[in-house]
Amino acid sequence: MPEDIENKKGGGKDRMNPQLASVDALAHVRAIAPYQPGKPIEEVARELGLEPDGIVKLASNENPLGAPESARRAIARAADLGRYPDGNAFALRSALAQRLGVALEWVTVGSGSNEILEMAAAAMLAPGRSCVYSQYAFAVYPLATQVRGARGIVVGARNFGHDLPAMARAIAADTRLVYLANPNNPTGTFADAGALEAFLREVPAAVAVVLDEAYNEYLAPPQRYDAIEWVRRYPNLIVSRTFSKAYGLAGLRVGYAVSQPDLAALLNRVRLPFNVSTLAQAAACAALADVDFLRRSYELNRAGLRTLEEGLQALGLAFVHSSANFILVKVGPADRVYRELLARGVIVRPVASYDLPEFLRVTVGLPEENQRFLQALAAALHAARAVAPVGAPR
Ligand SMILES: Cc1ncc(COP(=O)(O)O)c(C=O)c1O
Repeated sequence: MPEDIENKKGGGKDRMNPQLASVDALAHVRAIAPYQPGKPIEEVARELGLEPDGIVKLASNENPLGAPESARRAIARAADLGRYPDGNAFALRSALAQRLGVALEWVTVGSGSNEILEMAAAAMLAPGRSCVYSQYAFAVYPLATQVRGARGIVVGARNFGHDLPAMARAIAADTRLVYLANPNNPTGTFADAGALEAFLREVPAAVAVVLDEAYNEYLAPPQRYDAIEWVRRYPNLIVSRTFSKAYGLAGLRVGYAVSQPDLAALLNRVRLPFNVSTLAQAAACAALADVDFLRRSYELNRAGLRTLEEGLQALGLAFVHSSANFILVKVGPADRVYRELLARGVIVRPVASYDLPEFLRVTVGLPEENQRFLQALAAALHAARAVAPVGAPR
């Protein structure tokens, strides 16, 4: 398990001001296990006495190409930072609306698509209501549900992916929101258009569905489907996407939702004013127009996935076939293998918090990073097995 950064910070504050702990906070908020981000390179360098330049981070599903040059140039040209951003994100929403073939009012922007997921929860969930999501689905779904004091209905996964018929059956009288990730994080699984639309048809009109497509741009051509056409047909559907992955702008925090205007107006009621910064809006506009960067991101990822799959196969490891920019691999004693990888300067993501204690999630990197990971993994597996407790299965 990665070190719990949030708890560490809170613990420090409490020591300085012991009365803070006695505030009458909501019990369901206190009960939340904080989101655990991938370890930053600087932290690993500090803890292990390694040079930051020698560390490979394949832990947070970021784009190994970094931010597109076009976005960097747009940031350099961006308007007066002494003023608030355009709270309506007119230029960005217009560009998205035009690209997607919808009216401006159908597009809502978020501080990352994470904020879209939160807005949907804020609009739809409260104590006495429930939210349906899958086992092994993105960690923010249970978090957003718990923060609102709502009940999470977790539907058992099927082959690590969403069991959509079971999810439709799990919708209860008090359910008001469903989260679906396609492809899913951390498993990389994909549900095809037929299965998704069959699901949408089953959902009652009062229940909003967030179709979370954070990794949509990585889908291979035969997998692609037209979710925007579904938005036209299903007034309860919110499609959420991000600039953090294939567009390479994770550090700027920009995502967006496409929904019919009524639902968009609801999301906007709970959206923070000025939620997307001036720099983020400028960079996202540039990245959206940069079709060459998107194509390079896609191709690099496809090739990287192939390299990782072949390398994992050669090591005799089982993995889940991925449609995203990461891969879930079964390594056995994952915590030990994770630490052995860290000691070799490679950061990946343990997923014990997803109830997958034998697995690691590895983001596709640059070709040399993928090779470095595979070499480090061979050594880490060897070392982890060598220190297995006596009597433990090897
Ligand atoms: C499935 C899924 N949805 C949403 C997000 C949120 O990403 P962001 O807030 O950077 O758009 C992530 C991030 O990893 C994700 O994996």
